[in-house]
Amino acid sequence: MIVYLNGHYLPESEARVSVLDRGFLFGDGVYEVVPAYGGRLFRLEQHLDRLDRSLAAVRIMPPLDRAGWTRMLTELLARNPGGDRSVYLQVTRGAARRDHAFPEDASPTVFAMVNPLQPGDPALLETGVAAVTMPDTRWARCDIKAITLLANILARQQAVEAGATEAILVRAGRAIEGAASNLFVVGDGVIVTPPKDQSLLPGITRDLVVELAEAHNVPLMETPVTEADLRAAEEIWLTSSTKEILPVTRLDDRPVGDGRPGPVWARMMKLYQDYKQQLREGRV
Ligand SMILES: Cc1ncc(COP(=O)(O)O)c(C=O)c1O
Repeated sequence: MIVYLNGHYLPESEARVSVLDRGFLFGDGVYEVVPAYGGRLFRLEQHLDRLDRSLAAVRIMPPLDRAGWTRMLTELLARNPGGDRSVYLQVTRGAARRDHAFPEDASPTVFAMVNPLQPGDPALLETGVAAVTMPDTRWARCDIKAITLLANILARQQAVEAGATEAILVRAGRAIEGAASNLFVVGDGVIVTPPKDQSLLPGITRDLVVELAEAHNVPLMETPVTEADLRAAEEIWLTSSTKEILPVTRLDDRPVGDGRPGPVWARMMKLYQDYKQQLREGRV
């Protein structure tokens, strides 16, 4: 695997960062995951917009401009040929003597790597997956795509140990999102997803699902989802760049709806796959 580190393309085994890097010592950095289908970057503008917002929120100067990011990501994909892939991109505040306050002289560390993107397991899409609810113990700026992910890691691990695929995080009686995914429910045939605010990550997949629903007149509301709404939902889905739209058919060991992926999910999944196909053909 060829990775990108601070302006260089090099084998992963040769890439080195300082032990004083603030990403290593503090989790002081932000990241993006950008899928690429048929060699084309998925919603690149939206991913770079979110990266800019994350960098601005944590006050790291953008190390590259829009054209620079695009050139680097395109070059990295070209150096790692293959099928569908995703690019992981991380920017930390850089290496400096350990002190919480910002260093004066550090320059950001930029790292990117390419991973294969596995197509959704057809068996899983047939049956759906299990999710468990748990308290949202994260900080108050979940809209920043920060590499500091300890609360998300602990939630996901707890879900895995309970035999589930994802944790759905609940805060003050509201279901917010998954440990690494956004949340959609269907109630009375209407899709509902929590509105974007500082309590959740504004997912690029989420926004595309909202956009596709609007474009095809599928009823959708961006309003808070209470824990009661979640438990009464006809359908529950989780979205992310790597999970796409994943149907949840068991919640806390009870079936969701009739325990099978629902018709509204099937409709949106079809629209999502059509969109990916258009991207492969260079039509979006
Ligand atoms: C906490 C959280 N919410 C939502 C998402 C989904 O975001 P996207 O659709 O941009 O992958 C992620 C992605 O990793 C995430 O970590």
